[in-house]
Amino acid sequence: MGSTFDTTPCREQDLGKFEILERDGVARIGRLFTKHGTLQTPMLLPVVNPNIRTIEPREMWDEFGVQALITNSYVIWKHEKLKNPALKEGVHKLLDFPGIIVTDSGTFQSYVYGDIDVGVEEIVAFQRDIGVDIGTMLDVFGRPDQSIEELKEAVEQTVKRALPSLVEAGSDLLLNGPIQGGLHTSLRSESAELMGSVNGPFRGFSVHPIGGIVPIMEQHRYLELARIILAVRKTIPVNRPIHMFGCGHPMLFPMCIALGVDLFDSAAYALFARDGRLLTPDGTVRIENLKEWPFTSRVLNGISPSDVRAMEKNARTDLLARYNLEATQAELARCREAVRSGKIWSLVEQRSHSSPELREAFLFLKEHLMGENDSSKSQIVFSSSPVRPGSERWTEDSISRPHLIHANRLIRERWTPPLSDWKGESITNPELLLITSGRPPWRDSVKNDVIRALFHNPSLIPIIQTPNGLLPFDLEDWAPLCHIQASENTWSSLSSPSNDVLKSLGFDSQNIHHLTSSDESIDKEDRIRIFEWLEFSQISAKCSVLLGASRKMTSDWLDGMTVGRSSTGRIRNVFTSDGRHVLSPRLHDGGISLTNEGAKDLHSLGSGTPRLVLKSDAIPYVQDGRNVIHGFIEDVDENIAPGLACLIQDSSGNLIAHGISRCLPSEIRSFSKGIAVRVRGGIKSDDSQ
Ligand code: GUN
Repeated sequence: MGSTFDTTPCREQDLGKFEILERDGVARIGRLFTKHGTLQTPMLLPVVNPNIRTIEPREMWDEFGVQALITNSYVIWKHEKLKNPALKEGVHKLLDFPGIIVTDSGTFQSYVYGDIDVGVEEIVAFQRDIGVDIGTMLDVFGRPDQSIEELKEAVEQTVKRALPSLVEAGSDLLLNGPIQGGLHTSLRSESAELMGSVNGPFRGFSVHPIGGIVPIMEQHRYLELARIILAVRKTIPVNRPIHMFGCGHPMLFPMCIALGVDLFDSAAYALFARDGRLLTPDGTVRIENLKEWPFTSRVLNGISPSDVRAMEKNARTDLLARYNLEATQAELARCREAVRSGKIWSLVEQRSHSSPELREAFLFLKEHLMGENDSSKSQIVFSSSPVRPGSERWTEDSISRPHLIHANRLIRERWTPPLSDWKGESITNPELLLITSGRPPWRDSVKNDVIRALFHNPSLIPIIQTPNGLLPFDLEDWAPLCHIQASENTWSSLSSPSNDVLKSLGFDSQNIHHLTSSDESIDKEDRIRIFEWLEFSQISAKCSVLLGASRKMTSDWLDGMTVGRSSTGRIRNVFTSDGRHVLSPRLHDGGISLTNEGAKDLHSLGSGTPRLVLKSDAIPYVQDGRNVIHGFIEDVDENIAPGLACLIQDSSGNLIAHGISRCLPSEIRSFSKGIAVRVRGGIKSDDSQ
């Protein structure tokens, strides 16, 4: 097969930095810069026991697409036959592996066998001297059965050892800073905060593994695992990758990745193989009773389960370990693709059925995401772009997908009924017109009935009832809320919206009208007036919900607007009354794209569109239309969010550009690599007013 990974060392100034390339909420496709290439994440580091080597590291590299592995520096240090060649020729030569080598420090051995005989600085110096890319400090393992006092001690001891370890690591060895704290979420948060803030002479920790979780996973306590990840996420620096120490079962990957985990390591592929267990994304399968393989596999192609059972033990272990590694790699690839296509939470839902404990963890997360605000929930929800093309497959769980929660929340917080009706009268008492008939696209299926209803009662505000909640008719083409794949039964058995939901949109629950169908014809002129009112309402609704410009501001701004249309009659471009093209509704996702003129207007009108202040040295580039890069931002509004528009200005408040954010404010404050905002238009100073 041959590896496609590049082992060229990164630039000196990038060493240890992490960059996000793509995201679905806090799930991210990233890269970490090392001396043996940039590590793609999410990624699993297979554990290589330097004494056993079930699969040769070179074969992992050549045949299994393994870019990075983890081995144990304590085991190498302990055995002269490994230690001397490692010190002489380096760990890459020792293992015959050209990619990235991560090492652990002996902490796990101390958990399994008791005290170990190596010093805190000594083991870091050894990792440095054998040329490891990412080493691990000697942390203190916190077990789930320990008392809070003992766990506190483990956290404190680990923190005490952090700075001496970073000093010993020197300039070239990147270090893992493990997070301990057992099952205590407050201790986990505290540990993450303390470890995340330690600064060495060259850098802080480059990766934060969550430690002490092997016994938790062995006991299938996945709900507690999810709680621990949430607690760590709250306080860990957002620009550092998170690693799950000893987590290697593929069924756990989607949940962990959706919660923001970037790295995994595990010996499970080899350990499970030894006793005839196969790793699959749906759980573990034993070979004993299999007649056929319940999956496809390159490694097992042409060999039957009974052939495998008849094999000599070592040969069987070798073969099954290869299958396990293949299955692990395949599930990670599936997770990465799910992140790229915005479907990581759908995959979490699917995999949650792999075990009762995993389902329990998922149901806890569902409730957590849909419940009260908490900073770990906010990060997950607000980092999930609420505008995305494609359809949403409805399930009983789909309402808890973070991007849908985000979109529904924008409706609740920013959407208000139009200010005046199609006759130009103020709407003082909006009455709800509930649409339960028709299917998307509603602009085709119920338009005539809506026009008829508005003709008879101009104070009606049409709202569609969908399996994902109430959708104002003036946002009817907003993906993901509009493209719902659901059975006819699901549509026809939706229960009526609760009073609270109606109230949150500003309606009195006593006064609900239901859309009915009829053939009555309406005078052409009135039809056109109502239709144009609906179109205007759609533009102003999107400006409120997606750009933060209120209905009132948009109504004044776009009073007398004219439009250009697509061949099917939908609005393509919106012009102000003086003929300037200011925005374009996007037909593929229902979003709205500003032009430079539109951005200038919103800037001068003081709309609620989030702003970002650029450092002066980046201004000429961004004015030329280049993207805003992390590290060049002076200040940012709190409401900036991935997928939503923002205005970019200089420190005197002049508009420089506008674009679509790729991150949250906390990320803008901490990342120093990668794109922060995709610029859609640069504005030169003679251009802006
Ligand atoms: N491997 C599995 N768990 C741990 C842990 O808590 N610390 C270290 N250093 N290695 C581990």
